[in-house]
Amino acid sequence: MNQVQLHSKPQKSKTHINGVENLIRQMLKKQRAPFMIIRRCVLERQYRRFRKCLPEVTPYYAIKANPHPSIVKTFVKLGANFDVASAAEMKQVIRLGASPGKVIFANTIKTEADIITARRRRVRLMTFDNEPELYKIAKQYPKAHVLVRIKVANEGSVIELSLKFGADPEHAFFLLKKAKALGLKPMGVSFHVGSQSTNVENYLQAIEISAGIFKEAKKSGMPLKILDIGGGFPIQHFDNEIGINFERMASQIRHQMKALFDRNVKFMAEPGRFLVGPAGILVTQVIGRTFRNNKNYYYLNEGIYGAFSGMVFDHCKYEFKTLRRGQKFLSALAGPTCDSFDTLAMNEEVPELYVGDVVYVKNIGAYSTASATMGFNGFPPAKIVMV
Ligand SMILES: Cc1ncc(COP(=O)(O)O)c(C=O)c1O
Repeated sequence: MNQVQLHSKPQKSKTHINGVENLIRQMLKKQRAPFMIIRRCVLERQYRRFRKCLPEVTPYYAIKANPHPSIVKTFVKLGANFDVASAAEMKQVIRLGASPGKVIFANTIKTEADIITARRRRVRLMTFDNEPELYKIAKQYPKAHVLVRIKVANEGSVIELSLKFGADPEHAFFLLKKAKALGLKPMGVSFHVGSQSTNVENYLQAIEISAGIFKEAKKSGMPLKILDIGGGFPIQHFDNEIGINFERMASQIRHQMKALFDRNVKFMAEPGRFLVGPAGILVTQVIGRTFRNNKNYYYLNEGIYGAFSGMVFDHCKYEFKTLRRGQKFLSALAGPTCDSFDTLAMNEEVPELYVGDVVYVKNIGAYSTASATMGFNGFPPAKIVMV
């Protein structure tokens, strides 16, 4: 997140903070930092929130956000569907209990080997955004059901996905006709407004463009059945952040879908961050400190190469919190590796910290451990602990 707006008044109550800090203290009795706490109750809460706000939309959890088996199992138990990006993810969700009919292979560029796996595992629904991909699918999985992914506005989204994916909406119907001519089953349209999309207009516009494609297809005697509104649903990373209101966004999205689509159209989505981000609390410890450039530098036992990898790949900023109270000073926070790039913050307001003190970050369950390196410099990423 590049720009964070702040309220003058904190939104979270003291009891909430104490609850999180008490949990961290309890965990520290059994676990050595660094570790990532994933709260099942928050996964459940986010899933139910999504279902409640968008009851007509079936959520397919995008496991790329966090593929930890216990997280996947939690969503299997909740009855979720899954979005996978590769054969490896596909095999994983099926092994953990997802039925193949509840899985979408939502990567528009797939290897032939992965398409073969989809056929063998009976994962029939997949996305595409170009003609050469259709030839590959038709060759390896002639009965596949396909959604054409279109390029839509990613205005204001932290991660712009339309830079790399999505057919021109004007070509969408042609591509769907081509799919049909090749023997595949054209099912509908998908899009992704970009990750951490706080701008509801992206969704509203994309839904309207998709409705145009559905109309064109219906007129030509090829009615479509599925609209996949992708992921992108934003979360709050900072306690006092404003401008994110999922409930309001969802109500506008729902209204737009109802206004523009026939009743028999099925809606689905591929939320990743929204379902898993708020469940994660990363707990690290200070392993060293020094005074340089007129400020305290605190070295933590987790860094950019570990669970803070989202600061690079997800362009994410986090709120660093401490269990210690007291006057705050502008300080630097860095990870444990021998790389200066492994610096987390140059001007973070924290109390004076000592070796062994805890620094923790909330709302860091998505695109964090998932993109960490295996153990650069010999430091393995924080392990996940489910509570
Ligand atoms: C195809 C696809 N679906 C879903 C997602 C999940 O997006 P988000 O975590 O923003 O909900 C992504 C993220 O990159 C994606 O590429």
